[in-house]
Amino acid sequence: MSDTIKTIGVLTSGGDAPGMNAVVRAVVRKAITNGVNVKGIKKGYQGLLNEEIIDMHAGSVADIIQKGGTVLGTARCREFTTEEGQKLGAEICRKHGIDGIVVVGGDGSYKGAAALSRQGINTIGVPGTIDLDISCTEYTIGFDTAVNTAMEAIDKIRDTSSSHERCSIIEVMGRAAGYLALWCGIANGAEDILLPEKYDFNEQQIINNIIRNRKRGKTHHLIINAEGIGHSTSMARRIEAATGIETRATILGYMQRGGSPTCKDRYFASVMGAYAADLLCQGKSNRVVCYQQGQFVDYDIEEALNMKKSISEYEYEVSRCLSGNV
Ligand code: ADP
Ligand code: F6P
Repeated sequence: MSDTIKTIGVLTSGGDAPGMNAVVRAVVRKAITNGVNVKGIKKGYQGLLNEEIIDMHAGSVADIIQKGGTVLGTARCREFTTEEGQKLGAEICRKHGIDGIVVVGGDGSYKGAAALSRQGINTIGVPGTIDLDISCTEYTIGFDTAVNTAMEAIDKIRDTSSSHERCSIIEVMGRAAGYLALWCGIANGAEDILLPEKYDFNEQQIINNIIRNRKRGKTHHLIINAEGIGHSTSMARRIEAATGIETRATILGYMQRGGSPTCKDRYFASVMGAYAADLLCQGKSNRVVCYQQGQFVDYDIEEALNMKKSISEYEYEVSRCLSGNV
């Protein structure tokens, strides 16, 4: 452990994700075990600039591992994207004796962490987003809970869709990424799966699939549409007009971000949070904790931000094959 690291902070930033509380708990308890004090910074970088900083001890994080959302709160903060904002953030850290910060969030939050480390405050990122869209890691905390929440909701929509012999378009979150849509598409046995990374906007093809399936006797037709494509309601209107089959759109929305984290999210959050606290306590900075090929590892933030990942061609092919569209 480093002799110069006496106090670290922890903040959650960007969209909240189930499991963020488990990260906070792990950071606090691991750092304390390492002999380092911990402060909680409320509402992300906005709370840092507003000096919403609280002392944390082992008891402060009792009874939160099972809770959705983030007890620290989160925010999006435009001021922190400016150099003045970042300088102010670093000054506030020094004023409160904070030597380093664990930042739980997505790529945007990592950019803020990199900026803070350039201003002399050590930072470590932990991947917290339901979107699974951080390239340097095969897993992001929150994805498992969100995809299970969406899957259960879609099963319910399937019941009523079959009863009414309707076509249903269900829009799932994911920002520009199609991971949530792909996983739900496969897990819910959808007839069409529209991913931003793959969709060619050939709506006639979807219409043909619906008509063909109806002729084959299928009573429902589930289309999983990714948020990155959007326009589910107008798509439903056009499909209904073209097929004569009642078509409804459901946008699952924020329910996907809430709820008690699954075991997988609590486990990854706990290990990654502890790992991040250890890195900070060792005096490391400008790193992100990742999961790659069965191992927890860490990378330089800039290197991590330059990495690329995409939907697996094979998994996409499987989704098309199982939905009957090849
Ligand atoms: P996520 O972390 O989930 O990707 P955002 O993209 O909204 O979410 O980023 C969260 C916050 O991180 C932003 O509100 C902002 O305060 C900070 N941030 C984003 N981009 C930058 C940047 N280029 N430089 C500094 N801070 C940034
Ligand atoms: O990044 C998580 C996420 O829920 C995305 O799936 C979605 O595009 C975005 O956040 C919504 O953000 P906001 O809370 O600002 O509406």
